[in-house]
Amino acid sequence: MTAREGSAGREPTGEEWQRLRERAAGAMAHAYAPYSGFRVGAALLASNGMVVEGCNVENASYPAGSCAERVAMGAAVVQGLTEFEALVIVTEAASPTPPCGICRQVLMEFAPRLPVVSVTRGGAEARWEMSELLPHAFTPTSLGRR
Ligand code: THU
Repeated sequence: MTAREGSAGREPTGEEWQRLRERAAGAMAHAYAPYSGFRVGAALLASNGMVVEGCNVENASYPAGSCAERVAMGAAVVQGLTEFEALVIVTEAASPTPPCGICRQVLMEFAPRLPVVSVTRGGAEARWEMSELLPHAFTPTSLGRR
């Protein structure tokens, strides 16, 4: 299976979803968000069962900051992980927030069918699939190279 096809073939178990919620919340505790004050944690479940975390990492030069989802994806790829089953995002917002547009593009590269669950500290949840968050995406296929 290529990275482009992603996996997302297997619905995570309830225990796996819970582990992802906990790992994302743990990652959020490490968020570096002194400018926005908006802390985000993310946890990606790779197809081999590993969980990789990310938090947002802001910067005094504001555009240099990174979102939690992209930090998690980069941390996964550097470990050789390119197939994923699920993503959980945790924020302190009142309502569940979806990934930003740039993160949607980055997630789509590896996991076009990824289920994305967004959780608030209060326990509200929303769920989307990547193809729903970024329809008509520009993908590796669009380049005609794979
Ligand atoms: N942020 C994320 O980390 N993930 C998202 O899905 C949305 C936004 C970060 C970027 C910035 O550090 C802060 O949240 C406010 O936008």
